[in-house]
Amino acid sequence: MSNPFRSRTRSGWVEGSNEGRSRPIIRPWRDGRQVVYIWDGLKAERKTVTCRSCGAELPAQGRFCPQCGAAQLLMCRACRHANMPGSRFCSQCGAKLQAEPSSTASISAPDIRAAVPFAERRQLTVMFCDLVGSTARSTQLDPEDLREVIAAYHSCVAEVVGRFEGFVAQYLGDGALVFFGYPRAHEDDAQRSVRAALEIVDAVQSLECRGQKLEVRVGIATGPVVVGEIIGAGALPEKGAIGETPNLAARLQAIAAPNAVVVSPSTQRLAQRQFQYRDLGRHALKGFAQAVQAWQVLGAQPERRSEGMGSLAAPLIGRGAELAQLRSVLDSSRQQGRGRAVYIRGEAGIGKTRLLEEFCLMAREQGFACHTGLVLDFGAGTGRDAIGVLARDVLGLTLTSSVEAMGAAVELATKQGLIALDETVFINDLLDIPQPPQLRTTYDAMDNSTRDAGRRMAIPRLIERASRVQPRVLAVEDLHWADRSTLAQLAVLTTTAASCPVLLVMTSRLEHEALDQAWRAETGASPLSVIELAPLHDR
Ligand SMILES: Nc1ncnc2c1ncn2[C@@H]1O[C@H](COP(=O)(O)OP(=O)(O)O)[C@@H](O)[C@H]1O
Ligand SMILES: [Mg+2]
Repeated sequence: MSNPFRSRTRSGWVEGSNEGRSRPIIRPWRDGRQVVYIWDGLKAERKTVTCRSCGAELPAQGRFCPQCGAAQLLMCRACRHANMPGSRFCSQCGAKLQAEPSSTASISAPDIRAAVPFAERRQLTVMFCDLVGSTARSTQLDPEDLREVIAAYHSCVAEVVGRFEGFVAQYLGDGALVFFGYPRAHEDDAQRSVRAALEIVDAVQSLECRGQKLEVRVGIATGPVVVGEIIGAGALPEKGAIGETPNLAARLQAIAAPNAVVVSPSTQRLAQRQFQYRDLGRHALKGFAQAVQAWQVLGAQPERRSEGMGSLAAPLIGRGAELAQLRSVLDSSRQQGRGRAVYIRGEAGIGKTRLLEEFCLMAREQGFACHTGLVLDFGAGTGRDAIGVLARDVLGLTLTSSVEAMGAAVELATKQGLIALDETVFINDLLDIPQPPQLRTTYDAMDNSTRDAGRRMAIPRLIERASRVQPRVLAVEDLHWADRSTLAQLAVLTTTAASCPVLLVMTSRLEHEALDQAWRAETGASPLSVIELAPLHDR
């Protein structure tokens, strides 16, 4: 007899011993009765499942006894999941179930209806999370170790999801399909899902299992579905959701970088105030007729922010003239297919960042993708590479993306025609991706100035090509901290913006004129609008 302790992965079933634990597997038997297999480490014992009230044999999938009508579902005390008759451990959270007839026979009919409704139409937030690198792991690890790793990951997901009152509908190998809004709906299910996703990313990263470093990708989408018991490929009905939303969540998961959470526009709208996002632009996703806007969750919105993107909670005061000026820049860029540079100057705290945020909101509404280079802040030791961050953002990468994710993004962008073949070497260099063998010799033969010039040109070309797919706003803040090389790159981007739908918006304090005459000379006649911000009370 084969070992029934096996779990399904993408590549098939994984066999594994139960290491002394006795866990039942429920399968329908040939004659339609339900059968529990209990594996004792050596052989599987087969038992039919009988009614907890009158002892009659139960038919497969029976939730009520055909003889006495007694309810048979076993409600898990830990997570309230209703388990099929005969279960000894909860299929949702793994907790031991109360198997004695006296303690479990008392599940009332309303309880059952609440826990296991038949399929119904609902608004649902669906999360799909998947471990990164499962194929490689399945070849490296012994199947039993692999099973242990996947089990640890599953219980980590179940624990976090349980805390936010979500529902793990299915484990698909190392993927998990999770619902927020079913069986129990909350007003803030979208927010719960995003919070849970961020915690899953953290928790999975810190899992220690068989020496494996685990990373996860998460996709979330909100929308109408039919949810409930869906007859799947297996013999037992599975909890599932039918509609576009689960498919979208899975597709968004697939475009997420390792340890990133990517959400659909509907989820982002519902959880807009609570989190910070990066605009990943629109993506052509398999099965979707139109390109879908994707948002990467950067983290929870701090309660108070005086600097940086994300202080939109308080209503904007004044700045009507500046907003009108910025709106006309957006309009003319869309009409003419050419952009410009915009330079917002003003004292510290006067509202440069806030105006830029309002501008990005307007731009997104008009179909622009917005990319923000890190705030240049030498004091904090970050942001020295604002232009590199912009390029990463255009490629859907962050500073913490893995080398594999970066390599895959460059390959994809090359296929999509965003990066020319002879520019790949410079983009690799810029992102610190090891050069593949076929480029290694070319790269080694270059001197530093060739590499510098190549890097400097590769980014504007990438941005220009990306802007033909979707118009772009590039935001670079606090130029008063910028080094020469960053300013030189901004000069090149200013000339790029003049010939394609790109708006480069820069901010700076007054004390140091970053964009001086020499800088302007480098940009030739490329248009640059300057907005000088006056204090609000002077207006
Ligand atoms: N027009 C405005 N209406 C409301 N709040 C504003 C406005 N301009 C700035 N603020 C708020 O003032 C604070 C400082 O503004 P900020 O944009 O960070 O300044 P800067 O970038 O010029 O240093 C922020 O909390 C911001 O939200
Ligand atoms: Mg600022």
